[in-house]
Amino acid sequence: MNKQKSGQDLALERRQFLGGLALSAGGMALLGAGAATAAEPAGPGRAPVAVDTGVSQPAPLAQVAGKTAYITGGNTGIGLGIARALANAGMNVVMGYIQEDQVAPALKLFKAGQNVTAMRHDVTDRDGWVKLLADINAKYGNLHLLVNNAGIKTLRKASEVDAKGWDAAVGVNFTGIYNGCAVCIPHFKAHGQGAHIVTTSSMGGMLPGVTAGVYTATKFAAVGIMEALRMELLDTTIGTSVFCPGGVSTDNIVSADPAAGTAPLMMDPLEAGERVLNGVRNNDLFIFSHPEFKPGMQQRFDAILASVPPESFPEARAKAQTRVLTAPPYVPELAHRKQPRKTYRG
Ligand SMILES: NC(=O)c1ccc[n+]([C@@H]2O[C@H](COP(=O)([O-])OP(=O)(O)OC[C@H]3O[C@@H](n4cnc5c(N)ncnc54)[C@H](O)[C@@H]3O)[C@@H](O)[C@H]2O)c1
Repeated sequence: MNKQKSGQDLALERRQFLGGLALSAGGMALLGAGAATAAEPAGPGRAPVAVDTGVSQPAPLAQVAGKTAYITGGNTGIGLGIARALANAGMNVVMGYIQEDQVAPALKLFKAGQNVTAMRHDVTDRDGWVKLLADINAKYGNLHLLVNNAGIKTLRKASEVDAKGWDAAVGVNFTGIYNGCAVCIPHFKAHGQGAHIVTTSSMGGMLPGVTAGVYTATKFAAVGIMEALRMELLDTTIGTSVFCPGGVSTDNIVSADPAAGTAPLMMDPLEAGERVLNGVRNNDLFIFSHPEFKPGMQQRFDAILASVPPESFPEARAKAQTRVLTAPPYVPELAHRKQPRKTYRG
């Protein structure tokens, strides 16, 4: 099929081409880097060339059956939905819990023969992370998938909360994530069998919550850490994803907003879990499940770009800075997203 290419396609191809050229000295010469700077003044529209390969990292966990997953806060809500989806796909599943009374009801939702275990684990406890990994290794061998899902939904305004309120939210929603990464990434590198880290952020990690400034800030941080890790780990066998759901039917939502929670308007947690599984299998950097937020995201991205002053800039400064601040994950991700996909679940 000879489909006509859109302007966006052509722009992507051009960036990939330039990115490829930028990797070689010959390419730099062809672009006239250095020599051209004196002749051609920098200005709007002459962006520095980002160094990227235009090639997505192959999915490290395309095959999940028989591999082992750990889900923080895995015995309720979205975490439980993820645990069920992973167990249905044949993974060994370890659910972290902090409330004993929530374990038995959660285990009842699994099918006979599925390998599911619950382990007590508080994500803010650093020594606890070391013990947890040792316990998982003892029971199932290597760990392959870390799901940072535990979270507290502090619906408090950033303008009103005190420092202790910030500490509590940051401790679970952000510190809990890097505590886990610090322990699991060395293990993933050591076994080299392919591994993945997926973190449950929120649509609040893309768009500020009207009365949830604290939550928003922690969920933006959750997005940032997964993007940074994707960039750093691109040439390893470790993938990363950030899951940004809108409303999912959990107790959390019911207690936070009875009006919303009482209606079956929210997504079923198992569906959310299946969407996470699909994202892991495909090594998606961003896993979105609620397309209704796209216009809001568009407005935010547009506002950010519209805020960049249309001024010329010193090319030498741009070159110096782009050695530190290029954007390697995004062009590969755009190429990756052009691959046709039959489903976004499972
Ligand atoms: N439900 C939604 O609509 C929605 C939307 C967007 C994002 N999220 C996010 O999804 C994740 C799961 O939330 P949920 O809605 O399923 O609610 P939930 O309350 O059922 O799940 C939160 C889980 O985190 C656990 N947890 C809390 N503090 C912990 C700690 N210190 N250590 C270990 N576990 C801890 C809880 O025990 C619970 O199991 C959260 O990160 C939340 O921010 C939820």
